[in-house]
Amino acid sequence: MKYYSIILMLLVVCNSCQTTTKTFTEEEISLVPKPSEMVLTEGSYSFSKSTTVFIDNDKQKPAATYLSDLFKNAAGYPIAVSESRDGAAIVFSKDDNIKPEAYHLEVTPKKISIKASDAAGYFYAVQTLRQLLPASIEKANSDEKNWLVPSVVINDQPRFSWRGMQMDFSRHFFGIDDVKTFLNYMALYKLNTYHMHLTDDQGWRIEIKKYPLLTEKGAWRIESSHDKTCNELAKTDPLYSIDPTHYHERDGQKMYGGFFTQEQIKEIIAYAAERQIEVIPEIDMPGHLKAAIDNYPYLSCTNEAGWGENFSHPACLGKETTYEFTKNILTEIAELFPSKYIHIGGDEVNIQSWKECPLCQKAIKDNHLKNEHELQSFFNKDIEAFLNSKGKRLLGWDEIVEGGLSKDGTMMWWRNWAPKMRDIAAQHGNDMVITPCFEYYFDAQHAVTPFDKVYQYEPVPENFTKEQAKHILGVQANLWSEMIPNFKRLQYMAFPRMLALAETAWTSKEDKNYDDFQRRMNMQYQRLDALNIRYHIPTVTGLKDKVAFLDKATVELKAPLENMEIYYTTDGSIPTKTSKRYTAPLEFTATTKLNTIAYRGEVASETKSALIEKQTYLEPVTITPTKGALKRWSAVKQFTVVDSVALPKNAIFTTVKEINLAGKEGIEQLSMVFKGYFYAQTEGLYEFATKSDDGSLLYIGDKFVVDNGGNHSAIEKNGMVALKKGWHPITINYHEATGGGALEVFYKAPNSEKKVLNGNAIAHD
Ligand code: ACM
Ligand code: ZN
Repeated sequence: MKYYSIILMLLVVCNSCQTTTKTFTEEEISLVPKPSEMVLTEGSYSFSKSTTVFIDNDKQKPAATYLSDLFKNAAGYPIAVSESRDGAAIVFSKDDNIKPEAYHLEVTPKKISIKASDAAGYFYAVQTLRQLLPASIEKANSDEKNWLVPSVVINDQPRFSWRGMQMDFSRHFFGIDDVKTFLNYMALYKLNTYHMHLTDDQGWRIEIKKYPLLTEKGAWRIESSHDKTCNELAKTDPLYSIDPTHYHERDGQKMYGGFFTQEQIKEIIAYAAERQIEVIPEIDMPGHLKAAIDNYPYLSCTNEAGWGENFSHPACLGKETTYEFTKNILTEIAELFPSKYIHIGGDEVNIQSWKECPLCQKAIKDNHLKNEHELQSFFNKDIEAFLNSKGKRLLGWDEIVEGGLSKDGTMMWWRNWAPKMRDIAAQHGNDMVITPCFEYYFDAQHAVTPFDKVYQYEPVPENFTKEQAKHILGVQANLWSEMIPNFKRLQYMAFPRMLALAETAWTSKEDKNYDDFQRRMNMQYQRLDALNIRYHIPTVTGLKDKVAFLDKATVELKAPLENMEIYYTTDGSIPTKTSKRYTAPLEFTATTKLNTIAYRGEVASETKSALIEKQTYLEPVTITPTKGALKRWSAVKQFTVVDSVALPKNAIFTTVKEINLAGKEGIEQLSMVFKGYFYAQTEGLYEFATKSDDGSLLYIGDKFVVDNGGNHSAIEKNGMVALKKGWHPITINYHEATGGGALEVFYKAPNSEKKVLNGNAIAHD
């Protein structure tokens, strides 16, 4: 992006409006996503009751109305429509040379000119104007007096056409008011595609007139296992409280649930359209369908609903009734939603049900299919032809690639551990949306998928040619709601990560810059505060999980954002604002559990803890091992979590040069133990770190150094140990449960850089 700033602060009197105005500096402006081109000029425009707007076509109306509504809400007056172009301060005009969704915005002390060629372009210009206004524009009945907008010239256009967010209504339900609020958040950050996951095993959330039981019964449940977990967590964290408005007394029983009537869906679609957002419905099939099969059991292979090893029993693909049922539903969906795409899910099917079903096996044979994946593909293609006949295109999760893609099927790539799906789709000429589980699943804890990881992710694979890259429609983040039982928690999971996604979606790769984004983010938090959004605050920085020392440790803490205070405890209790306030580095001479918390106003971060451990040097062993490799043992389906992995008595080992999954990728319930020696080249404090998906545990001798246990996606944990010079026994236990594994191990010798643990630092006997 090009910034030309005039670093000159001056106060001038604007003749036309008689209000004090000023020239802004770049540091006072925060636009997210970053525009393609911005020139800062002298002075500013001051909004007042007499500000009027001129529009000359209907496509400009939603943008002008949105702006007027912002002022009505915050300042108490609307922006009136002017009859003449000359008399208006804000002038919209059409410029056919400007691309779809792009806009030109020019602000001077006297006028604001907005040019675009379509409704989206006008709308995005207004969203930029909104972010140039003080954050108080987001507040009802604000006491702000100076509605100044810096003088700028902005030319802007998006990188991707698909800038999406998904919400899951099945696992926990969100009502229409929450939906509308969320659509306004999306509009603010120029996101344009709203994917509604409306059906799944845990609840059916959309009225289907032909099958009333889907919502009469399928929308309601007694407490699920996720509800139970949320209720348990809510005892200490109110963000996990289940939204009480979704409990209803039904047939004398308290039940959880809800659904959208078709009229409500129309209202959502219209509301979204005014904000230039397209609504994409997802009706997951032939798996994730238990809420339907519970009430129409003839759909399954066994005429019963239930669960297989990992997923629910799918619909039977050997029965004509399945095809009829799904098409009848899609007929109503296609009539209701104007979107080009209809998402049919297609993920995580328990194909074992089809393996055991004579009807499914007959369908495979009759249609000359190779296996159950091809059976699913056969179903998808039939559904796709049906959707095409309704003028729609099929969209599905990346499993739709297995068993063969159709010509027009569009894929949502989510499985980081199945990267080839992108290559197959692109080579076959199919479009895709990039929504990877490790970066864009915003239901993942912030520690697992932090804000910077979301920002830094590049959605176009390096190996893609220019032609292949054209098949990437864009990006999307998902908010699966198993552990999101209310809208406040949804905000907490979505923000601030949604802004990082928005910048990747809109801003060109070359114009992205993390440091600059951080600066703009510091100001965006004020806007999120004004919108009363409960966002996540990063934890205290500069604190390792474990700090080892010999005589004395000095620990320095840093606030993760501007305007934050740090509090801490050393007695194991959870810190609050009444705990000790951090003002200078802390010193320790005995082993201590340090708990820290950061506050931005009244909003707190999560607690970040560290063990500050007094240690004595570990003695080396006397051995002359073989350098450059470790011994590795592995087993499948013997354990379910790393914490219980144990070597058998007569374990058989192989030697490996690298500590990773080489040769074992894609195996579920895989356990491994790496054993050998680590060379401490000098006496001192050594840091070790493991980054693993799922868990790993690292020991030096008998000392437990890095605790990265449990089943989780890739996270890095660290630890420290005091070592005498020489060889020290090292053991790394690892377990991959399901969903793609990874293991990396690092070390940092005293006064040295962090390195991957391999080469001459490792050895075996
Ligand atoms: C998915 O997360 N199963 C698409
Ligand atoms: Zn079957």
